[in-house]
Amino acid sequence: MTSTTDIFSIAGKRAIVTGASRGIGRAIALAYAEAGAHVLITARSEEGLKETAALGAEFNGTIDILAADLLAPESAEAAILGAAETLGGIDILVNNAADDHDSPIEKTDLAVFQRVVDLNLQSCWVMTKAASPYLKDGGGKVINVASVLGLVGMRDDSAYIAAKHGLVGLTKAVALEWARKNVQVNALAPGFVETAMLPQLGQEGVADYIRRQVPAGRWSQPEEYAGPAIFLASSASDYMTGQVLVTDGGLTAQ
Ligand SMILES: NC(=O)c1ccc[n+]([C@@H]2O[C@H](COP(=O)([O-])OP(=O)(O)OC[C@H]3O[C@@H](n4cnc5c(N)ncnc54)[C@H](OP(=O)(O)O)[C@@H]3O)[C@@H](O)[C@H]2O)c1
Repeated sequence: MTSTTDIFSIAGKRAIVTGASRGIGRAIALAYAEAGAHVLITARSEEGLKETAALGAEFNGTIDILAADLLAPESAEAAILGAAETLGGIDILVNNAADDHDSPIEKTDLAVFQRVVDLNLQSCWVMTKAASPYLKDGGGKVINVASVLGLVGMRDDSAYIAAKHGLVGLTKAVALEWARKNVQVNALAPGFVETAMLPQLGQEGVADYIRRQVPAGRWSQPEEYAGPAIFLASSASDYMTGQVLVTDGGLTAQ
């Protein structure tokens, strides 16, 4: 029988994590490296990527970096090819890079909507498609970092919410296409996380609102997504596909 340590093991796996120059992507990349995976991290900021790699230098796994702007489909595809070459294949793809733009629909330009959708949804489609020959070699995992805003709405964030709902749809669709190939495609849906994407936490009114609204009474830290991301990357989740793992302190259970 397989031990519980073995079912959560990703030692020796080859992973690409996007948006790993800071925040949740950095926390997931470090957790994977600590667990013995060979990780290629990507984002625009080479400096941020180097910082992540330096933080993981003491771990068993290796972290390689590849700077890329994933807004352009050609560079998203090139990032996958570069990762496959550096890693010698791809077992795990974490589509995490994203951007937000809060504003009411009347005050949001089409160009802004397109930019948010191109990064938060289209780039995930492009990268998943480009990674398919490698993932389908056997036992691949795709983890799309969505959001609770991929499940419910909120005012004044239409582009982000449309893109994240689309990402949940993409997760289900590709999961069904690849289920017989033993490739699992799941989404991770964070609630409020203290990262650069949520600068509003600095405003006492917003911080108070979150404390009141979230049943756990607090927001989360990027490191709290390491466990769910290891689970979704490991054989512990082999019979789970097309699902959304919600990690939100109880926010959407209300
Ligand atoms: N923070 C939250 O409360 C929260 C809640 C729910 C879901 N999420 C989701 O969690 C994921 C990570 O977000 P985070 O909170 O860690 O945000 P973050 O700290 O702002 O990190 C975003 C990452 O995406 C990268 N990125 C942005 N634009 C890019 C581009 N054009 N090309 C390549 N990489 C790009 C950034 O790196 P560069 O700037 O160096 O390119 C950075 O590494 C996102 O999918 C986000 O939607 C966050």
